[in-house]
Amino acid sequence: MPSAISPRPRYTPNYMLRPFRRRDLNAVDDAIRASLADLALYLPWAVDYNRNTTASFLRDSAASWAEARAFDFTIRNADSPDVHLGNVSVWWVSRPNLVGEIGYWVRTDSTGRGICTEAAANIVQIGFEELGMHRITLRTAMGNVASERVATKLGFTNEGVLRDEVKVGREWLDHTVWGLLEHEWSANKARYTAEEWV
Ligand SMILES: CC(C)(COP(=O)(O)OP(=O)(O)OC[C@H]1O[C@@H](n2cnc3c(N)ncnc32)[C@H](O)[C@@H]1OP(=O)(O)O)[C@@H](O)C(=O)NCCC(=O)NCCS
Repeated sequence: MPSAISPRPRYTPNYMLRPFRRRDLNAVDDAIRASLADLALYLPWAVDYNRNTTASFLRDSAASWAEARAFDFTIRNADSPDVHLGNVSVWWVSRPNLVGEIGYWVRTDSTGRGICTEAAANIVQIGFEELGMHRITLRTAMGNVASERVATKLGFTNEGVLRDEVKVGREWLDHTVWGLLEHEWSANKARYTAEEWV
């Protein structure tokens, strides 16, 4: 199985996922600024956010794609693609063991519409079917009910708590680690299709 994948856009039932470009800086910066109150609850980089954070992310994202380490996608409406709706990513944790991890965020004015679930369902599919992963993990801060709900809807199993896993501002947050195995993905795929997530 390849450790790299094509950078072509992926079309989900309602959205387009594509790799970032340098010229996405304004769109991503706008989305983050409009969502800082929510992002800064759980994501350390959002606490002292400035535009350089996004510029640096875009550089790192291009390098990660080139080195086949991590695959970040911007989520867009296919018919109005100028607005950055959020990020969804899959990255290698262990290539020998075929373990990957996913992460995501959605801009605040677009939450609650199923965007994250659909984007994450497709990144799971990319992880298992394109990258050949055997196990995909996801970490959610304890109390991040929306993210926990996404993990549950996608069929991930709660595998336990990592104590003081991330420092957000001055606060250490516990994380729940979630896992989805290849055979569980296969068993869930018909449901993902029936839900029109993939
Ligand atoms: C977590 C996040 C990505 C969810 O994005 P989203 O596009 O709103 O997610 P979806 O609409 O696909 O699904 C959210 C689910 O959580 C539920 N939910 C949201 N807030 C909730 C709350 N306070 N209590 C209970 N359920 C809640 C929604 O009802 C929905 O479930 P449903 O489909 O069964 O109704 C988004 O809120 C976000 O970016 N938050 C800030 C950053 C973050 O937490 N990133 C994730 C780090 S792991």
